[in-house]
Amino acid sequence: MARKKQPKRTRSAPTVEEIVSQIVELEKPSYAAYGENDENGYQVFTPSFIVEGMIKAVGEKEIDDWNRTILEPTSGDGAFTGRILERRLKKAMGEKDSFPANALRSLSTLYSVEMDKELMERQRNNIFTIFMKAARKMQSQDNADLIAKAKRIIANNFLWAMTNMENPITPMSADVAYRMPEALEGEQFGVEFPVWTIGDDLTCTMHREPVEVEI
Ligand SMILES: C[S@@+](CC[C@H](N)C(=O)[O-])C[C@H]1O[C@@H](n2cnc3c(N)ncnc32)[C@H](O)[C@@H]1O
Repeated sequence: MARKKQPKRTRSAPTVEEIVSQIVELEKPSYAAYGENDENGYQVFTPSFIVEGMIKAVGEKEIDDWNRTILEPTSGDGAFTGRILERRLKKAMGEKDSFPANALRSLSTLYSVEMDKELMERQRNNIFTIFMKAARKMQSQDNADLIAKAKRIIANNFLWAMTNMENPITPMSADVAYRMPEALEGEQFGVEFPVWTIGDDLTCTMHREPVEVEI
């Protein structure tokens, strides 16, 4: 597959370090509901009972499998990604010793794109809050290495970006997502998604691959 030209960074595109420094734990995850975030009523958000129904329709075993990648291309503040992470972490909590590595794996195969910057920022905080709740239950919340790696994965996988509607997500196209600041300026480029390998000792390596999506 042909590689796209390398992204040009603009002043408005935050670095991973800047994103990491902005991620905070909330008292609890906070989701918009029924267009509250959008004065014009263009944004609607999925209530939890529909999320549950859709997870069942896709297959709970598949959704809960942290080795399977999931991309939410128009993710709002994380109605789906948050619930999927909660389910995976609940499963990971079944084994205390392997919890930290499996918790990072659960996060590492979740990918999310949202063009509304405010919603993406809230989603990252929601996801981190869910992660920390599970870490606290497993008494891993003081593991600075685990927490730093979780933030780094969130900063790389949860993109303030625009899914490209002219080249919809198909196996033929790597052009799945476009970073918003450049897209606004007409300088669109395909994003290569991070692929993580997480060792049992929490070593984390990452490389980037063009996106191919199974439909
Ligand atoms: C109907 S809402 C659903 C949000 C979430 N999936 C949910 O179920 O609650 C659609 C979201 O997609 C975002 N969106 C619309 N077009 C987009 C695009 N081309 N790329 C990325 N995000 C987009 C909107 O900003 C909005 O937050």
